[in-house]
Amino acid sequence: MQNKFYVTTPIYYVNAEPHIGHAYTTILADFLKRFYTMKGYDAYFLTGTDEHGDKILKAAQENGSTPQEFTDRISVKFRQTWKDMDLRFDDFIRTTEERHKKVVQKVLQRVYDNGDIYFGSYGGYYCVGCERFLTEKDMVDGKCPDHNTKLDYIEESNYFFRMAKYQGWLIDHIEKNPEFIRPERYRNEVLSLLKHEALEDLCISRPKARSPWGIPLPFDEKYVTYVWFDALINYVSAIGYPDDNKFSEFWPVAHHLIAKDIVKPHGVFWPTMLKAAGIEPFLHLNVHGYWNMDDAKMSKSLGNVVRPLDLVNKFGSDQIRYFFLREMTFGLDAKFSEDAIVNRINYDLANDLGNLVKRAFNMIEKYFNGEVPAFDQSAPSGRDVIREKFRTAVKGYFSSIDHFHFSTGLERLWEFVRFLNKYIDDTKPWQLAKDNRTVELSSTLRNLLESIAALSVLLSPVLTVSSTAIARALGEDISFASEDQITSLALLKDGSRISDIGILFPRLEREAVQPEAGKPEVKKMEQKQEAVKADAGDGLVDISEFGKIDIRVAQVLEASAIEGSDKLLELKVDSGLDTRVIIAGIAQHYAADYLLGKKILLVANLKPATLFKRKSYGMLLAAKKEKRDKPVLIEVDQSIPVGARLS
Ligand code: MSP
Repeated sequence: MQNKFYVTTPIYYVNAEPHIGHAYTTILADFLKRFYTMKGYDAYFLTGTDEHGDKILKAAQENGSTPQEFTDRISVKFRQTWKDMDLRFDDFIRTTEERHKKVVQKVLQRVYDNGDIYFGSYGGYYCVGCERFLTEKDMVDGKCPDHNTKLDYIEESNYFFRMAKYQGWLIDHIEKNPEFIRPERYRNEVLSLLKHEALEDLCISRPKARSPWGIPLPFDEKYVTYVWFDALINYVSAIGYPDDNKFSEFWPVAHHLIAKDIVKPHGVFWPTMLKAAGIEPFLHLNVHGYWNMDDAKMSKSLGNVVRPLDLVNKFGSDQIRYFFLREMTFGLDAKFSEDAIVNRINYDLANDLGNLVKRAFNMIEKYFNGEVPAFDQSAPSGRDVIREKFRTAVKGYFSSIDHFHFSTGLERLWEFVRFLNKYIDDTKPWQLAKDNRTVELSSTLRNLLESIAALSVLLSPVLTVSSTAIARALGEDISFASEDQITSLALLKDGSRISDIGILFPRLEREAVQPEAGKPEVKKMEQKQEAVKADAGDGLVDISEFGKIDIRVAQVLEASAIEGSDKLLELKVDSGLDTRVIIAGIAQHYAADYLLGKKILLVANLKPATLFKRKSYGMLLAAKKEKRDKPVLIEVDQSIPVGARLS
C-alpha cells in the first residue's frame, strides 16, 4: 500500500490579514507535501481559517460588517495569498462551514454522552484577545500581559470538559512516544506543565447571550462552543471524521505544524479531547519558533508586519522559500531581516548553486556544443567519489527532513553543491580541453551534469521554479524513483541537447552598504594608506600599522579577458562590503572560467588605479618566489565567509 503523509497548519484567525509568520508555517507545509509526494507518498496538506469567537465578532463590528461578511472577506485573502504563492493545499477548511459544524457537534455529543462534559459555574478574568479566562497569576497589574487590556471578573454558568481526568494518560503517552511533541524543548515544556500543576477542567462553552458567534452546543441551544474546542476539531472534520476513507487513511499519519504560541491548546487540550472522543492521538506535534523583527515580536500594533506577497514580489518565490527553510533552526526563534535574505540569496543560491549550474552549462556549450557528453568508463574522473558523497548528502537530507530539521537537511545538500564546485576547481576542465584530453573532459562534465540533474529533482520541493527551469534546460523529464536511482548518476542520455539556462539567481546589491569608489569611504581609505607609508621606517611595521591594511575574503562573481591585453583580466568581486571591479594581471596564468566562484584575498582599501583605461578598486593577492615565476593565486577555503577580514 502507498505510504501516506498528512500535514496541517494552524487555521489562522481572520481578525488580521496574512503576514510572514503565517506564510512561514504554510510554506513549510507546502514543502512537506511536495517532499513526500516526490518520494512517492500520498501526501495531504490542510490549511484554513478560524472564524468564530469574540475576537472575530469584535473585529467585524469595528469594521462595520456582519461577522459572516467579514470572515468571508478575510478568509478569501488567506486562501488567495497561498494560491498566489503557489502553496498547494489539498483542502482549505473554514470553521463556519456546515461540514465542520456538524463534526464539532458530533464530537461534543460523543464526549457528553461519555460523561466527560458537565455543567458548572465559573468565575475568572476573561481576555477577548486570548479567548480564555486568565487566573490572577497570569495577569500583570490587573491586565492581560499579552494584550495589555484591563480584565473584568466574570462569573457565569458554563459547560466543562473533564480534562483533568486525562492528565495521567497524557503524561504517559508523551513519555512513551518521545517524538509526540517535538523538538524536545516543547515536549519538556508540556511535560513540566503536566507534572507540576494539577490540570483544570476546560470551560468549553460561552453563553449565547454574551457571545453569540459560535457553534451551538448540540445538547444546549443557549450556549455556543468555546472557540478552541471548535477550532482544533478542524484537523479531523476536514478529512471527513468519522466515516470518510480520508479520515481512516490520513489520521494515523497526522503531523501538526504550529508555532510556540499555541503549544498548550495543541499539546494538552487537543490530545485529551481526542482521547475523550475515542479518537486516536495525532502522530506528531511539530513546534517551531517565532520570526522576530530586529529582536521585537512581529505584530500589527508595532507596525512591523511584513506581507508575504510583497516579499515574494521583491525577492522571488524560490528565494523566499529557501530563506525560510534554511535560516530558521526548527524550534528556535529566528531574526527576520532583508539583509539576511540577501545573504542567503547571494551566498547559497547565487554563489554556490547558481554558479555551479552556470559553470557546468557554459562548459557543455563551449566544449560539446551544448550536447550531453558521454561518460567513459576508461576515465571515470572520480565518479565513485562523487557518488559516495552524493549518497551521504541524500541520506542526510532525507533523514533530517523526516525529523523536521529543515535547515540541516538543506545544508547536507549544499555540502554536496560546494563539493561539486570544488570538483570543477580540482579537475580544471578548461585545462583538460587545452590539453585535448577529451575523454576525461567528457566524463568530468557528464559527472557534473548528472549531479545537477539529480539535485534539481531533490530540490524541487524547495526551489519549485528553478528546479523546473533546470529540468527544462536539460531537456529531460526526470522524477524521483528511489535513493539508488537518484544517486546513480545515470539520469541523462548521451547527446541530448541542453538549452541556455540564463541566470537562475541574480545577485542582489545590499541596499544599505554600497560605498562607491571615489566617495567618502575611499577618501578615508586613501588617508589610511598615507599613514602606512609615513610610518614604514626601517621596514618593520607594528601591529596597528598592519591593521590599517584591509585584506578580506572576496568572491569572484564574473571574470573576463580584456580586449587588447594578454595580461589583464577584469574581475567583478563580492568583497562583503560591496560589489566592485578589480583588474588583475594574471591572464597568462589563469583562465577566466577557472576564477568564477573562487574565494580570494582582496586588498580592499587600495587607492583606485587605472589600468588599460579601466578603474581597479583593489588588488587580489597572489604569491611567487622569484620575480619571473608564475603568480599563484591565494585561494581561500569555501567555508570562510565573504567579507571576513585578515587579522
Ligand atoms: N486560530 C489559532 C490557531 C487554531 S489551530 C486549531 C491561531 N491563529 S493565528 O492566526 O494567531 O496563527 C498562529 C500561527 O501563525 C502560529 O502558530 C504560527 O504558525 C503562525 N505565526 C504567526 N506569527 C508568527 C511568527 N512571528 N513567527 C512564526 N510563526 C508565526 O493561533
